[in-house]
Amino acid sequence: MLEQFEKIGRDSLSALKKVSGVAALEEFRIKYLGRKGQITQMLTQIGRFPAEQRPAAGQLANKIKKEITEAYEQLKTSLSHSRQQTVELIDVTLPGKAVSVGRSHVITQTINELLEIFGRMGFNVAYGPEVEDEWHNYVALNIGPEHPARDPFDAFYVGDNTLLRSHTSPVQIRVMEHTKPPIRVVAPGRCYRPDTVDATHMYMFHQLEGLVVDEGISMVNMKTAINQFIHAFFGPDTKWRFRPSFFPFTEPSAEIDLLLKDKSGQENWVEMGGCGMVDPNVFKEVGIDEEKYTGWAFGFGVERLAMRKYGITDIRLLFENDLRFLDQF
Ligand code: PHE
Repeated sequence: MLEQFEKIGRDSLSALKKVSGVAALEEFRIKYLGRKGQITQMLTQIGRFPAEQRPAAGQLANKIKKEITEAYEQLKTSLSHSRQQTVELIDVTLPGKAVSVGRSHVITQTINELLEIFGRMGFNVAYGPEVEDEWHNYVALNIGPEHPARDPFDAFYVGDNTLLRSHTSPVQIRVMEHTKPPIRVVAPGRCYRPDTVDATHMYMFHQLEGLVVDEGISMVNMKTAINQFIHAFFGPDTKWRFRPSFFPFTEPSAEIDLLLKDKSGQENWVEMGGCGMVDPNVFKEVGIDEEKYTGWAFGFGVERLAMRKYGITDIRLLFENDLRFLDQF
């Protein structure tokens, strides 16, 4: 009987030597050390020995169990540290982890597209500060002190004579102060107005300003450029119109409306921006000879353009920074 114990010991040790991975080790454990394993079973045999042999049998069985258990534990530790286990744990058939790639905000994308279209049409790009003085934001633009836009409640004032610009038109002034005609620029940027937030209004929004000044510039040039832009941005079949309007810094002035179908197929004129021929008073303010030069300007709402182009119905979605929304663009 004791010989049989020794054989189990030898067998299990040589079986353990052949173990080469985590799975095989677990098979070994079940076969030898598990509840019904050979070594465990061996221990239950001790009771069958005659009383005088029991102590020797018990000693031998326990010695074998200890040896095997220790060898098993050792192998287990070394396997869990070895590369072999790492290799086994990597399932190359599983799909890889997706790496999420960032992208520009849809408004940034829209501005880039606008700059590209106007770039192809020969326009340079100009930028101006978002914190402006009253002279650039109003006075030089022929917006007098009585004009309703001058109501302090219609702009975010940050100090006497200092406000967050309420439109990008002050960039026209900054360009004309420093550049001699011919001028062909577009100026994208943020504007601020204390509007109550709803589906179409935000206290911060973007505009794209345009300005052309040269000799012999007429309203025909303005209409042609705007037509080319709208067809490039919205497609060649897009219908649009000038609607007579008023701005203190252009004369004559017009709103630019787009004819758009809503979900039910109903066609509506939707305002995209304002434009007009530069008022001679503006040229006087910046020291450009108003007898020699004429010019035109426009200001488009970038959010409006993007919302129409992509079918976005609520401006707030653009600024909530919910990636489920932004990821679509
Ligand atoms: N600045 C005007 C606005 O914010 C738009 C405009 C720009 C109109 C240039 C005419 C010429 O409403």
